[in-house]
Amino acid sequence: MASKNPWRLSRNVIPSRYFISLTPDFDDFTFRGLSYIKVNIEEATSIITLHAAELDITNAEANLGNKTKNITYNKKHQTVSLEFIDQLRPGTRWLTLGFKGKLNDKMHGFYRTSYMVNGEKRWGAATQFEATDARRAFPCFDEPDMKAIFTIQIIAPLHMTVLSNMPAYSIPVSPNKINKTVVFEDTVPMSTYLVAFVVAELEYIEGFTRDNKPVRVWATPGKKEMCRFALEVALHSIKYFEKWFGVPYALPKLDMVALPDFASGAMENWGLITYRETALLIDAKNSSAAMRQRVAEVVDHELAHQWFGNLVTMRWWTHLWLNEGFASYAGPKAVDAQFPNWDVWTQYITEDYFPALGADSLNNTHAIEVSVKNPDEIREIFDAITYSKGSVINRMLEYYLGIEAYSRGLSLYFDKYKFGNATTDDLWQALEEASGKPVSELMARYTRQKGYPVVTAYLDDEKNELRLEQKRFIFDGSKDTKHSLWHIPLLMQTGENENTLSYYMRDRKAVVQLNSRACSWLKINPGQSGFYRVAYSPEMISRLAIAVSEGALPTIDRIGLLNDAFALARADFIKTRSALELLEAYKSEDNYNVWREIEHGLNLSGKLISADTCSYLQFKSFARDFFKPTAERLGWDKIPGESFTDIFLRSLAITNMGNWGDQDTIDEARRHFSSYVNGGELDPDIRNAVFLLVAKHGGNEEFEKFIKLYENATSPEESVRTLRALGSFNDTVIHARALDIALSEKVRPQDKLRMVWYSNKKTHTLTWEFVKNNWDVFLKLYGHGGLGFMNGLIALPAGFSTQEQLEDVERFFATHDVSGADRAVKQCLEKIRSNIAWRERSCNEVIEWLEEKFSYRT
Ligand code: BES
Ligand code: ZN
Repeated sequence: MASKNPWRLSRNVIPSRYFISLTPDFDDFTFRGLSYIKVNIEEATSIITLHAAELDITNAEANLGNKTKNITYNKKHQTVSLEFIDQLRPGTRWLTLGFKGKLNDKMHGFYRTSYMVNGEKRWGAATQFEATDARRAFPCFDEPDMKAIFTIQIIAPLHMTVLSNMPAYSIPVSPNKINKTVVFEDTVPMSTYLVAFVVAELEYIEGFTRDNKPVRVWATPGKKEMCRFALEVALHSIKYFEKWFGVPYALPKLDMVALPDFASGAMENWGLITYRETALLIDAKNSSAAMRQRVAEVVDHELAHQWFGNLVTMRWWTHLWLNEGFASYAGPKAVDAQFPNWDVWTQYITEDYFPALGADSLNNTHAIEVSVKNPDEIREIFDAITYSKGSVINRMLEYYLGIEAYSRGLSLYFDKYKFGNATTDDLWQALEEASGKPVSELMARYTRQKGYPVVTAYLDDEKNELRLEQKRFIFDGSKDTKHSLWHIPLLMQTGENENTLSYYMRDRKAVVQLNSRACSWLKINPGQSGFYRVAYSPEMISRLAIAVSEGALPTIDRIGLLNDAFALARADFIKTRSALELLEAYKSEDNYNVWREIEHGLNLSGKLISADTCSYLQFKSFARDFFKPTAERLGWDKIPGESFTDIFLRSLAITNMGNWGDQDTIDEARRHFSSYVNGGELDPDIRNAVFLLVAKHGGNEEFEKFIKLYENATSPEESVRTLRALGSFNDTVIHARALDIALSEKVRPQDKLRMVWYSNKKTHTLTWEFVKNNWDVFLKLYGHGGLGFMNGLIALPAGFSTQEQLEDVERFFATHDVSGADRAVKQCLEKIRSNIAWRERSCNEVIEWLEEKFSYRT
């Protein structure tokens, strides 16, 4: 099966050990390599095929002496075939390979990264192998189930630090005293994509786990104090995961390194986790709470991978969610355990639960378990389905099985598959064994079919019964032709009864008999623990709206109700004005996370009417009225004793007052900004809000000030913040200047899109023109490995909502190289179509609703 796919390797030759020696050369950005690979051969063969990309194999031998007749590269499939003079008999054999490669600037494989020391530009090198780029650093059997033991050796300049997965055990210095040879201890059996090494000038701080293993956090010179926070988080969470999973951390040390150039947020390489600087470094004085949250979230996510992914690895990328979905569930658990006042599970609803539902509402979604056969297809599934839906269905399952049974199941799973590989079914089996419940039967429906159900609910007060029906929810309102059906562990909550009711729904329709008398309100899916939406009857929804305005509904339920309402409006289940009417019940809301959803609802509705109309002015004033009391309550300065989330709410209120056109807020932001650039203080927690408002309404003078701030930024957080501001000017001439700067040498490739993404409504079209005009530049910059970046660009026009724009985008994608990102293109186009349909359907309705509202007032 696997052998029919030309990207996959045969199972005739299986590696068990690699000795790899690499010598990077920072003068010409190349490296030389030498490796010995111990393989087991099943059936006699004279050809061995393994993965290699952009490597030049200079020498290959089997069993010392059996030279090659032919070395054939297959560029497309990223393989190399070594044809030996003598046939290799079955059994254990050694391959010897000499090779050369490039230290590339594409942030994948073995790549170079630059940093400044005393005003001088220096070079280092690092690796990023997931998913399929180990083959760019050494020829290997680059598939996750071909685990082996690795011995790594790096020859590097004396003054540089060299790190790898394991501790170094000897460092002989070369006779010329220029180089050193760093040899690392043997790894445990592991997958190729988790191998890593870093060569650069680095400084560290250090702590120790309970059993005295060193944990070090590293950064390029001058930044080591910024490593403190991440170290605290790591020490906490290693302990936390060891206890939860009942399995100790498997390696003798852990290093975490902030790299100046990095393709994603972080990478869980076993024992050597690498990060983008903004995902690891915290400047104690100048950092925002949002940034500390981000660092904790990323560190805990990568630490969770040391078990989920590293210790037990997916058998093939189809089961990638076993890595990413779990790390995305276990991460927040550890963050919540360490920082209970952050209220992360409420934030989770906004940051994982809704993105999962959103992504899975498209026709062009995919099942969690999806067949992937080549590097492009693999890269494409590092998305909201794998991460967020994967996480959310774990949460659903834990609710259903209970914390105890779920954790016992996980321990069983780790015990059975450690240092090996597993599939989704293997996990269900372990959880089934631990819980005695039919886990596969429930979960397969969420991992093997795409989409999720919407449950329509009608409460018959007289008969005291609840009538339910499920069907697939799709944004375009289309009917599900494949008749997907889910098992839904339904929960229900009423205003009268503290206990939740439960009902296991397995058919399309169900009638649930309620035994209590008619209730004031009934909320289905309390706590949003299940992966489905609910479409209530108008009668039920109006009772829920009353519960909202009276503050009777729990926080997460208030959020869930509102998100469902706007999604249902988009999909034509309900009128948009019904969603807006529900929104009005949220006027006296005080919870930050609910406010984010209100903000979301207002932004979506605002887009349904044209910007230069009288109705839009009315809408702006409606939106301002919403935020005003909160903005006044929280002001611009921290209030002693305020809740952690009020810190975020203040910034949200300022942003929205400004964005919806409140002149006082804009003026106040300007005052804060000018005091800041003149050396005054500016609270890091409102700094982003202030920057963006000033930029949006600013001119050349402000632009120059932001350039200065960018050039003088002392923390990675501040540089990114100023870049975003630079990309947010409404003035079209300035905006064009910003985009030019984005493409210049001044901005690292990893940061360029920060400026592009942050263009706002007014300049959105210009940004899209710019992206189109520079498509080839971006392709060259990010190359094929930079699909994550290219996907960001492909998604840029997803907010468009006119037929003309749709045709333009379609034409562009049809005539340009978007290879390997087919699904991203389809999703973008589907979103635009859905925007158009919603706008055409609801525009007048919203305008009428506004007229009615405003005529009552006068
Ligand atoms: N394994 C990924 C890194 C990765 C992403 C490798 C895409 C190859 C392709 C890592 O564990 C990860 O998921 N990082 C996230 C951060 C996390 C907190 C969601 C990232 O980089 O954004
Ligand atoms: Zn991950």
